[in-house]
Amino acid sequence: MSHSSSSPSDQYRTETREAYRNRQRAEAYDRQLLGSLSWARFTMWREIGLVASFIKGRVGDRKPLVIDLPCGTGVAARIFRERGYPVIAGDISAEMMEVGAHRYGDALRGMVQMDITRTPFSSGAFEAAVVLGFLHRIPADLKTQVMKEIGRISTEFVVVSVSVDGWGQRLKRRIVRLLKPGHAFAPGPEAWGTIRDMFEDAGFEILGVKSVMPVLSAEKIVLLASAGDSRGSRD
Ligand SMILES: C[S@@+](CC[C@H](N)C(=O)[O-])C[C@H]1O[C@@H](n2cnc3c(N)ncnc32)[C@H](O)[C@@H]1O
Repeated sequence: MSHSSSSPSDQYRTETREAYRNRQRAEAYDRQLLGSLSWARFTMWREIGLVASFIKGRVGDRKPLVIDLPCGTGVAARIFRERGYPVIAGDISAEMMEVGAHRYGDALRGMVQMDITRTPFSSGAFEAAVVLGFLHRIPADLKTQVMKEIGRISTEFVVVSVSVDGWGQRLKRRIVRLLKPGHAFAPGPEAWGTIRDMFEDAGFEILGVKSVMPVLSAEKIVLLASAGDSRGSRD
């Protein structure tokens, strides 16, 4: 991954929107997260546990219709399969979806290739949305646009992962730079205040925040209440 002199929009286009539209890349991503004993797999396992507990806390024994977007190769699929929450999975990459489709089992109601910035669904089509591994990869203006679109299509709540900068992350980067001089860091950790303001600008209320791995990982899982009053305004 290169972060040379290109703008955040160029980086998003090449490294996030287009990069996964490739079978080899999809399989490599899947292997790293689900097929090997790695730090990424461990944090993914923690992430999924937190997402599941946020959903369970909101819905109890109900089975809400959820959208998993972008679904990638289905790292969150286990939640829907095991708890029987009906799910629509979507991604811009058909290749990522093909690799992960089997993971959703009977919970899957459909897979739709789509751009998250402009989904094909009517307002309030879903009770809940899960947006993982995505927001930290996109430019600031697009984050608000994406979250408004997610708020438009979901009625009750959204669970989203974010990458939050802090002293633990800065220390970790320093150590990794010493040990691995050419290491390319994942894009986009931001100050919590910036992330909080972005959610509020998009019309969400923050109901809960949990760290995937305090100090060691920048990733946090956030539970948001969907913005009821913005629904319907973009039909
Ligand atoms: C790092 S993966 C995260 C996937 C999955 N949620 C996870 O946690 O493993 C990023 C995903 O975003 C998808 N993506 C990138 N731009 C997109 C867009 N504009 N609309 C929908 N999906 C997009 C990519 O195809 C890729 O599958």
